[in-house]
Formats: sequence, C-alpha cells, structure tokens
Amino acid sequence: MSLLTWSERLALGHPTMDETHEEFVALLNDLGAAEGDQILASMDTFISHTEKHFGQEDAWMEQLQYPRIGCHRNEHANILEVVREVRTRIAGGEQQYGRTLAEALAEWFPVHAASMDAMLAAFMQFGAEALSECSHEGSESCPHSGAGGDAPGATPASSS
Ligand SMILES: [Fe+2]
Ligand SMILES: [Fe+2]
Repeated sequence: MSLLTWSERLALGHPTMDETHEEFVALLNDLGAAEGDQILASMDTFISHTEKHFGQEDAWMEQLQYPRIGCHRNEHANILEVVREVRTRIAGGEQQYGRTLAEALAEWFPVHAASMDAMLAAFMQFGAEALSECSHEGSESCPHSGAGGDAPGATPASSS
C-alpha cells in the first residue's frame, strides 16, 4: 500500500515544482515498499532526486532573492542530513530504517508542500504580494529548523 498518494490536493500550480513533487511521492512510495537489497538502491535513487528537488528550489530562492529563503533552505538541509544519516545506517545493515524514514517523510511532505513550497510557488507566480496574503503561515518562525534557525547571511529581508 502506498504511503502517500499524489493528488491535486498536493499540486501548487507551478508545473515544474508539481512534476518534481509527483516524482518525489512516487520515489517515497518505492522506498517504503522496497525490501532486502532493494532498500539501499531505492534510498540512493531517492537521495539523488531529493538533492535535485531541494537544490532547484534553493536556486530559485537565491535567484529571486526570496525573502524567506532562510527557513526554507534550512528545512531542506535538515531533511537531507537526516536522509543521509539513515542511508549510512541502512548501508550498515539496519535496513528497517528505510521504511521508517519513508513513513516519516510521508507525514512531513504534505506539510512542507502546503506551507513553504506553496509560499515559494505563489511568490514565483505572483511576486511579493503573494507573501503578504499568506503572512500567517510561519513568517516569523522556523518550526522545523532545529536549533540553527536561519542560516548565517540568510536572514529575511527587512521590511524597510
Ligand atoms: Fe518541494
Ligand atoms: Fe521545499
């Protein structure tokens, strides 16, 4: 059974982002369903795709001087750190963590897509005005970024 089903509910109206997210969901399900030696191979495919996925969004945010880049980029970095750590454990024989990771990311992804990715998609389509309309969504805090907060040099733009 799939951990997460792609649907219009997850779509953000940005074709490139939506295509990437649909692939992400498919690879997440592959990882969750993998068994035995497939798990490490699935993990590597998933990591490679996720590096490109997050890298693309980070590059868009840098190019557009996106005001909320700090939180979003930190969350990507934190997730990738966890994913790479789990890969190390799987390679060491703890294969059960492939399924555990996939389950956790199936919970995380819809929240990330509906908040940070949705804001970025709106900003790319409608510009800065889109952010003022969704300013209630995590504009000040970095709920999943751990102790680090915004990365150095990546503080949100001032309001002046
Ligand atoms: Fe994304
Ligand atoms: Fe993202």
